[in-house]
Amino acid sequence: MTDRELVKKAFEMHQFAYVPYSCFPVGAAILAKDGRVFTGCNVENAAYGSTICAERTAVLKAVSEGCREGWEAIAIAGRGEDYCWPCGACRQMLYEFAPGIRVLAARGDGECKMVPLAELLPHGFGPRSLR
Ligand code: THU
Repeated sequence: MTDRELVKKAFEMHQFAYVPYSCFPVGAAILAKDGRVFTGCNVENAAYGSTICAERTAVLKAVSEGCREGWEAIAIAGRGEDYCWPCGACRQMLYEFAPGIRVLAARGDGECKMVPLAELLPHGFGPRSLR
C-alpha cells in the first residue's frame, strides 16, 4: 500500500469520529508489515479527559488483534489548515510498539508530510529504558 492510499484510509475514518465537543474529526491508519491496516478515529466523552485520539484507537486495535510489531507507517488525517501531528500521549504510545514508525500527517486540503517518529519524540522512554 502506498503512503497516499494509507492517508486516504485515514480520511475515510472521519465518518466514524465521535466529536460532539470539539467538532474536529480525526482519522488514523496504521500499516503493518504483513499488509494489514488498523484504523481508528477519535472518540470524545462528556468527561473531556476520557477522550481518546484516533491514533491511540488504531494502536489499541492493532495490539488487541495480536499485531504488536512491524508497524511501518501511521497516517493521521485532520480537516484543519495545519498538518495533524500526533499529540504527546499518542507519540508515547506509538513509541512503545514502533519507535521506528513513519508518521504521515495530513491536513484538510489533503496535503501530507512524513516525519519519522524518532524526530517527533527524540530520546523517548520505552521498553528498553527499563532494562
Ligand atoms: N485528536 C486526535 O484524535 N488526534 C490528534 O492527533 C490530535 C487531536 C483529537 C482529540 C480531540 O477529540 C480532538 O482531536 C480535538 O483535540
